[in-house]
Amino acid sequence: MNIDIKNTDVGRYAELVKSLSAKKARNAYVVTFGCQQNEADSEKIRGMAREMGYTIVDTPNEADLIVVNTCAIRKHAELKALSVIGRFKELKRNNPELVVGVVGCMAAEQHMADFIKQKFRYVSFTLEPNLLYMLPKLLWKSLSERERSFIFDADEGNIVEGIEPVRASGHKAWVSIMYGCNNFCSYCIVPYVRGRERSRDSRSVIEECKKLIDSGYREITLLGQNVNSYKSDMDFASLLESIAKISGDFVLRFMTSHPKDVSDRLIEVMGKYTGKVAPHFHLPLQSGSDGILKAMNRTYNTEKFLSTVDKLRSTVPGIALTSDIIIGFPGESEGDFEATLNMLSNVKFDMVYSFLYSPREGTRAAVMENQISDEIKGERMNRLLELQCAISLEKNLPYVDTTQRVLVDSVAKNKNENTYTARTLSNKLVQIESDENYIGQFKYVKINRTSAFSLFGEYVREEN
Ligand code: SAH
Ligand code: SF4
Ligand code: F3S
Repeated sequence: MNIDIKNTDVGRYAELVKSLSAKKARNAYVVTFGCQQNEADSEKIRGMAREMGYTIVDTPNEADLIVVNTCAIRKHAELKALSVIGRFKELKRNNPELVVGVVGCMAAEQHMADFIKQKFRYVSFTLEPNLLYMLPKLLWKSLSERERSFIFDADEGNIVEGIEPVRASGHKAWVSIMYGCNNFCSYCIVPYVRGRERSRDSRSVIEECKKLIDSGYREITLLGQNVNSYKSDMDFASLLESIAKISGDFVLRFMTSHPKDVSDRLIEVMGKYTGKVAPHFHLPLQSGSDGILKAMNRTYNTEKFLSTVDKLRSTVPGIALTSDIIIGFPGESEGDFEATLNMLSNVKFDMVYSFLYSPREGTRAAVMENQISDEIKGERMNRLLELQCAISLEKNLPYVDTTQRVLVDSVAKNKNENTYTARTLSNKLVQIESDENYIGQFKYVKINRTSAFSLFGEYVREEN
């Protein structure tokens, strides 16, 4: 269902909360776990909080509203969120007016919502991702009636238009274009917590991108759990093309794609708009064993994957490929794992994110036989990292002594203040030492050296 926020009672509740904020200045703090989709959702939560008269702050200590936006993809992500929620007990004791809410994918799991309700008495509400727009209502109930609300209804497939986000960056923007997932990979919780696939209207997506570009945004990342399965009056390739045609100096990225939906048309569009569409494709392989891919319900095999890789590389010059791998899926034999290592050696991804398989309650894989021990998973992870590290370095070396166009992103963390991070169009991280602050601008950089994880360069005047 398409919901325009203007046609709901959300505005009325937002006004009610705002009338309280008018009496006393209030601060809101949002902490985010998980993927870019959650980052984008948090920007909308901040937008709603601002609408309700809150000032957005970046520490919890002075906050009157804390929203924890959680992830359920692996157990570790859940434990981290629970530990952070636990830390807010003290703040609530010092400030009884504080409202703590838990949203995101964990809040969409019934057993987790129940657990939070019982274990953390000071949490006022939980709210699943599809119903985020109800936040003002739950907040009002908490503030006015001290009512606790625990809402989930995972079947509801909404698209909510009209929530103005407070964007974290002034030069790069997330634009969600589709939500949910129909694929039910046997290990994955996402279809249960995010509901079925639905796509935004192409006109509102294009309109949003135009506005962003007009107001100076330099990078737009189209988001969706399976972004390339986008389907409205047009498919993903056509949407990408329509956005690439918008005039202006910007780079267009997208994630995450499912290998089954990489159409020839999509590859063509990427090849045709190389100045606009970034030459980078994140294509999660998950395993290099056809038997495991089948058990994962991934619906492609290694042969099909390799043919997609070939087409991408022959059509899009200089394209960088990155991927996700799950280590230790139930039944993964030494031979299966070696097949994964072989695929990595064959394909030579620029970068791989590898994850230890984590059983998720309610998924098919969680009850499969032959769960792999932590010890074997850990040992396989080390082998994979060692191999991929060498491959990533090999993929970075040809960049040395070249000049790259980069978008300067931020000050490098844990470095001295004059080290900046930037991204090449192929999405490689570059570190640059400079006295000039060019954050948010496209610049040319000469690459002087590299490691497996980062290029290092200096600004040069122009492409040469
Ligand atoms: N929709 C995307 C990404 C989903 S989650 C896709 O289909 O690729 C991001 C990554 O988390 C996945 O690619 C997968 O590698 C990993 N992942 C998902 N479920 C997992 C689990 N139960 N244990 C470990 N890793 C998992
Ligand atoms: Fe999860 Fe598979 Fe859907 Fe990706 S495609 S979100 S891995 S179920
Ligand atoms: Fe996590 Fe939900 Fe994203 S489970 S990875 S925050 S879709």
